[in-house]
Amino acid sequence: MPIETGKMVDLVHGLLDRSVFSDQAFYQQELEKIFTRAWLWIGHESLVPNPNDFFSTYMGEDPVILTRDAHGNLHAMLNMCRHRGNRVVRADDGNAKNFMCTYHGWTYSSDGGKLVSVPGLQEAYYGELDVEHLGLIEVAQLDTYAGFIFATWDPEAPSLEDYLGDMRWYTDTWFNRREGGLELVGPMKWVIPTNWKMPADNFAGDNYHVSITHRSASIAQARVRGQPAGAPANTGQVSAFNRRTFGIGVNGHSTSGRMAELGEEAPQFSSDSILRQYRQGIQAEMERRLGPTQVRFTPIVGTIFPNASFLLSSNTVRIWNPRGPYSTEVWSFVAVERAAAEAIKKATRLASLLQFGISGMFEQDDMDNWNACVAAGKSLTARRFPQRIDMGIGHEIKHEIMPGMVEPGSSNEVVQRAFYARWEEFMTTSSWADIPLAPQTAQYEGTATFRS
Ligand code: FES
Ligand code: FE
Repeated sequence: MPIETGKMVDLVHGLLDRSVFSDQAFYQQELEKIFTRAWLWIGHESLVPNPNDFFSTYMGEDPVILTRDAHGNLHAMLNMCRHRGNRVVRADDGNAKNFMCTYHGWTYSSDGGKLVSVPGLQEAYYGELDVEHLGLIEVAQLDTYAGFIFATWDPEAPSLEDYLGDMRWYTDTWFNRREGGLELVGPMKWVIPTNWKMPADNFAGDNYHVSITHRSASIAQARVRGQPAGAPANTGQVSAFNRRTFGIGVNGHSTSGRMAELGEEAPQFSSDSILRQYRQGIQAEMERRLGPTQVRFTPIVGTIFPNASFLLSSNTVRIWNPRGPYSTEVWSFVAVERAAAEAIKKATRLASLLQFGISGMFEQDDMDNWNACVAAGKSLTARRFPQRIDMGIGHEIKHEIMPGMVEPGSSNEVVQRAFYARWEEFMTTSSWADIPLAPQTAQYEGTATFRS
């Protein structure tokens, strides 16, 4: 059935026009309507732990310098010299009080990018240059959640807390479950010929693919471990049709995870025995920080709209940097808990890299599928037949505990519908006033707070 003209996302029938992955005009519109307005995850406090540390990051295609100034405050500025537009910072990260442009030497401070030195200010500019207003362009808003740093170019954007809304109830169960939170290692970076939305859509909670896409890797892994072929692999998957796993959408963010029964032990998605023991050992601390209800939820995977994702079983967090309709620069970090022993951090890093990451056994299966799915959008004939996101449509429920739009079952497409509904809201509105935000309803019973 073709999608109604002009409507890219058909939520009634669960259909998606394939040109959203291939059309250059859509891509340009995404940069403008989504990546200059949404809160974007740009880094983590652990990447800039000391005064004057910096980390080179991106907001969409815009290069951005994330800094911690001498007083400990965080800043994010467009990495563009105000003279001819040269990139001021070329290093991935480092420590510097000031950044000197390599072209003509204009120099900017790390505390918000003030222009602190201009060669020839008196001799060539006659002292007439408006130095005060020629600092680096700062983001409109910057805030942190559980150590993760977010920024937006839009001064009208709601607070980060409202933007995340009840999604925090879910992400807390990993990001905020221990004192001190997470520390990030990386990123590994690589470019894949796919559209940024395809991996964001997969990480939104596509458990449906796991037993098929990762079948050969699972068999190989089971053989090495001496387990029967088809034993669950360490990819965070549960049985493809388990009804005690849920898909959830909140404000365009999405996740999939298991809600344990009262008194039931939390499920273990890691097959590494050291990491399983570690998880059991932190249960009491988790209960204290999350409270008795929230602690029952174990996330598998999720996407924070638009382009940040996480996968707990492999301890990876991601940024899908858009680089054109057919190109995505993947940034993959390993996330370890700051309070964990060094041996646990090492085991976590190793387990993560074996599964996911540029040479990870499971990562490669995914990339190949994403590339081919997006390539279909190039074909005019293929575009006449919409992509389907209708699994489980109409079976969403109001859950008595879990906030947001919830659908029982580890395989459903409620998460993709949430993601693309949000995509369309951003793409078809010109102001934040027209983008709906679900009110926050989640209850927090533990000691964890929004920022730590
Ligand atoms: Fe940076 Fe000229 S472009 S100083
Ligand atoms: Fe996968």
